[in-house]
Amino acid sequence: MTTLGLIGSGNIGGTVARLAVAAGYEVVLSNSRGPETLRDLVEDLGPRARAALPAEAAEAGDLVVVTIPLHAHRRVPVEPLAGKVVIDTENYYLQRDEQIPELDDESTTTSELLQRHLPTSRVVKAFNNIYFKHLLSLARPAGAPDRSALPIAGDDAEAKATVTAFLDALGYDAVDAGRLAEGWRFQRDTAAYAGLYFGQGPDAGEAGTPADATAVRAALAAARRYADTEED
Ligand SMILES: NC(=O)c1ccc[n+]([C@@H]2O[C@H](COP(=O)([O-])OP(=O)(O)OC[C@H]3O[C@@H](n4cnc5c(N)ncnc54)[C@H](OP(=O)(O)O)[C@@H]3O)[C@@H](O)[C@H]2O)c1
Repeated sequence: MTTLGLIGSGNIGGTVARLAVAAGYEVVLSNSRGPETLRDLVEDLGPRARAALPAEAAEAGDLVVVTIPLHAHRRVPVEPLAGKVVIDTENYYLQRDEQIPELDDESTTTSELLQRHLPTSRVVKAFNNIYFKHLLSLARPAGAPDRSALPIAGDDAEAKATVTAFLDALGYDAVDAGRLAEGWRFQRDTAAYAGLYFGQGPDAGEAGTPADATAVRAALAAARRYADTEED
């Protein structure tokens, strides 16, 4: 039985946990306020879920998802994540996060910052480009004609294979966007960002619209740096 650890159990963390429980994983949730504040979510998720402190969730996870506001990334426990594959869902929003000049000038990317903070872990960027409600509603079994794909990026091929298998179990194909430095291709406001799964029509906002690997690849290829976009 594989255990998924979650550092952060909000919109995205709670949704990944829900999909993981449905796929047969044990999940250990954590947040900043303490396990007792996650009681309702744990009850809702059922017997495969429990809540703990962040360091305990990190320790318990065979695979760990960091899904917190970016400004808190330096508080992610380092030692219990040594040697582990860590999925990073974080995005940079100036109005919420502290200003980070290296992200403003695009000399690095959000997941490279987490990788720098976790030098002994293998960070893979995933789940950052889909609205949490769509992440739940668009999950499909392998082979379904309307299955969606999600981009991933990382510097370690084996870690990316682990995350690809995890996405498959949760209901998604994966598209390899390259190394962590290529993560900008599906950062906030790019073609591969959340709008890709919004689609058209009255229910699009809630249910989302599937986007397959071909659509994700096309969006990644069309990605433009913020600086280039501002010149328009
Ligand atoms: N919302 C989306 O649809 C979406 C989609 C893709 C990616 N993302 C990105 O994914 C990340 C999480 O987004 P979200 O919408 O799930 O946020 P959220 O609903 O605000 O949840 C954030 C979670 O992080 C926890 N947290 C904050 N600081 C922490 C710390 N130091 N240690 C452990 N846990 C901590 C919070 O716990 P407390 O409540 O106890 O503080 C909460 O459980 C963000 O970077 C966001 O940009 C969001």
